[in-house]
Amino acid sequence: MEISAVRNDFPTIRRKEGVYLDSACQSLRPDRVIKAILEYYEDFPSCGGRSVHGMSARVSLLTDEAREKAAGFFGTDDPDCYIFTKNCTEGINTVARGYGLKKGDVVVTTDTEHNSNHVPWSILAEETGIRRRYSGSNDNGEFDIENFKGTMGKDVKLVSVHHASNVTGCIVPIREVAEIAHDAGAKVLIDGSQAAPHMKVDLKKADADFYSLSIHKMLGPSGMGILYGKRECLEDLRPLTTGGGTVGLVTYDSVDLAPIPDKFEAGLQNYSGIAGTKAALDYLTEVGMDRILEHDRKLMRHIFKRTDGIKGLSPVGPDDPDRRCGVFSFNIEGLSPHDIAMMLDKMDNIMIRSGMHCAHPFFLSRGIEGSARASVYLYNDEEDIERFAVALGNVAKTFGNG
Ligand code: ALA
Repeated sequence: MEISAVRNDFPTIRRKEGVYLDSACQSLRPDRVIKAILEYYEDFPSCGGRSVHGMSARVSLLTDEAREKAAGFFGTDDPDCYIFTKNCTEGINTVARGYGLKKGDVVVTTDTEHNSNHVPWSILAEETGIRRRYSGSNDNGEFDIENFKGTMGKDVKLVSVHHASNVTGCIVPIREVAEIAHDAGAKVLIDGSQAAPHMKVDLKKADADFYSLSIHKMLGPSGMGILYGKRECLEDLRPLTTGGGTVGLVTYDSVDLAPIPDKFEAGLQNYSGIAGTKAALDYLTEVGMDRILEHDRKLMRHIFKRTDGIKGLSPVGPDDPDRRCGVFSFNIEGLSPHDIAMMLDKMDNIMIRSGMHCAHPFFLSRGIEGSARASVYLYNDEEDIERFAVALGNVAKTFGNG
């Protein structure tokens, strides 16, 4: 499928309902995903893995197929290693709570994490006495491998870092991180929510022990995510929630947890979400992740070119568009990020995000109050960027101090 043809698959783009530049928060969904969700509700709105009637068998089959699709998509061959979650955050919490960390164990993150990969460890530290250690990024907010090496030690049990930052878009070399962490005897969890939508992620090559992501950022339904783990890591991990579907045989006195993936998927599942997940992964496969990466980079280069020279504008993060994963965060002198976002929306239906992007420590440590953020995806084109740049230039000229 040609990338130029995808725009026609997205209802809000067809209806010309503005320029959507908020995909780092949540992506738009193509017809095919919406149809898959509807089909589940219209044709086989039943449970999976329990009842033996035909409708239920169809749900079970769909769930198996979606898991197989995920395994192929992420370059591994064991579908059981893919747990359906409600989002990346739930996957990270599952590892945080289930890994068996004890008082004194150290968890290393970077100083540029989203709250979903910061708060669970802080709460665990309060509750159990685990310790935090931060790998400091450079002045641009980029991951610093030497600094990371300095955080390693025998007490480090887990490294949990983002694959791409939701503020700067910078990419962390996760294969090298895994090598260094493994040499130190630690396991690795990657928050893949901002990278997986934009690039081919080969989990075998990455050698990460766990990888958590949100499907709603990759054309899939809201409230869907995936937690991948190596088989042995998932087998050792305690589930976050338990109940029906997570067990073998249960007596009044004993519980046998089911094998993976079942032990992690308690209760009835989000089957329409699973149907939409499969359709989204199919769609991304047809377009091709390498093409998406190139397309997003091209748009990022265009944003930098067209916004260069806007008075008072300063990007947050590196100036090199190729080092950003679909994300352009910025400030304009004399304007608050929320004012910029509201003016773009009201003036020309341009949708961006503003604030601290759930990365409070990053902003607080740098004394920045937040940023405006435009984020692109496969359905954006140069005309979108043109409209954004022109509107931004007008906002800066009329209301900024620059
Ligand atoms: N993590 C999402 C974002 O950065 C919500 O917008």
